[in-house]
Amino acid sequence: MASNVLIQTNDLHVRFVRQKQLDIFAVRSLNLEVHEKETLALVGESGSGKTTTGHALVRLLQPESGTIRFEGEDVSRIRGKRLERYHSRAQLIFQDPFASLNPFHTVSYHLQRPLRRLGHLSPKRAREVCHDLLAQVGLTPTATFENKYPHELSGGQRQRVAIARALAADPVFIVADEPISMLDVSLRAGILHLLESLQADQGLSYLYITHDLASARYLAQRIAVMYGGSLVEIAPAADLVQAPAHPYTRLLLQASSSSWGQDLAPLPEKHPGAPDLTITRKGCPFAPRCLHAMKKCEQEMPELIPVASDHEAACFLVSSS
Ligand SMILES: Nc1ncnc2c1ncn2[C@@H]1O[C@H](COP(=O)(O)OP(=O)(O)O)[C@@H](O)[C@H]1O
Ligand code: SF4
Ligand SMILES: [Mg+2]
Repeated sequence: MASNVLIQTNDLHVRFVRQKQLDIFAVRSLNLEVHEKETLALVGESGSGKTTTGHALVRLLQPESGTIRFEGEDVSRIRGKRLERYHSRAQLIFQDPFASLNPFHTVSYHLQRPLRRLGHLSPKRAREVCHDLLAQVGLTPTATFENKYPHELSGGQRQRVAIARALAADPVFIVADEPISMLDVSLRAGILHLLESLQADQGLSYLYITHDLASARYLAQRIAVMYGGSLVEIAPAADLVQAPAHPYTRLLLQASSSSWGQDLAPLPEKHPGAPDLTITRKGCPFAPRCLHAMKKCEQEMPELIPVASDHEAACFLVSSS
């Protein structure tokens, strides 16, 4: 892809250390790039490491090893003021608009808080910016919404407030973590259209996390598929859907619905079992469920190799283009 890289991970590992239980290796050796003004969708079943990846990219958590470079700067281990500055450039929209807003505060408070943190805006200017943000996310007339509390809003309106709050920091990169999965089906298209138009107006880049391939196909230019903490395939959205190379992606496509926001159907009975994330494994993460698994698959980790233009898959069965 010709456009500039905005954020890039190199050999990223995230481990959750647990007391009296085995540690979880949630993200393993992840190499991923999001380009300027691009939407990259990250798809996979629940527990595959999507949220952990998103949280690492916006530095809500620190990776165990590897690097995250943002606009060329290594942000993997920054702290204090540098981390604060980074948080104004890279924002997160949470999955649950009900839990992500404080029920005791108004819409205006939620939007003005990041503004106050960042700059020295006068109260009058902060209120103007707040109205501006509400208009950008389609909550008009803005005066009707500024003094409302979260419980006075619908799920879709709350998610719009959460998006406005993310925009208040004036970011260039947003991780949107399943932003429509908890919304009524009738509201989902509106939020995806809003994300699309904000991107066109403001040149944003998104990591769009979802377990729903139909919305990934709609919103993203490229789709990356994760399994057991590892990236198993990445391709332009249309190519991934039309010519999936990895056995896991093919199963996901078979199990997926064509309507937005539908959960992936469970994989068929002959593919039981989730990957064990508590071990440092040697082989392909998908081997225990793969119908094509060979001896080699249990002993060696397949690397991502090119299968077509901008299309890579990590499986011993695919051949290099
Ligand atoms: N704070 C945490 N402590 C321990 N394990 C965690 C924590 N957060 C996530 N995990 C585990 O990491 C794995 C990946 O989780 P997650 O990134 O939330 O996956 P996804 O978003 O794809 O559903 C899961 O096994 C999950 O239980
Ligand atoms: S590397 Fe082996 S186990 Fe993994 S997806 Fe390919 S064939 Fe299946
Ligand atoms: Mg998640």
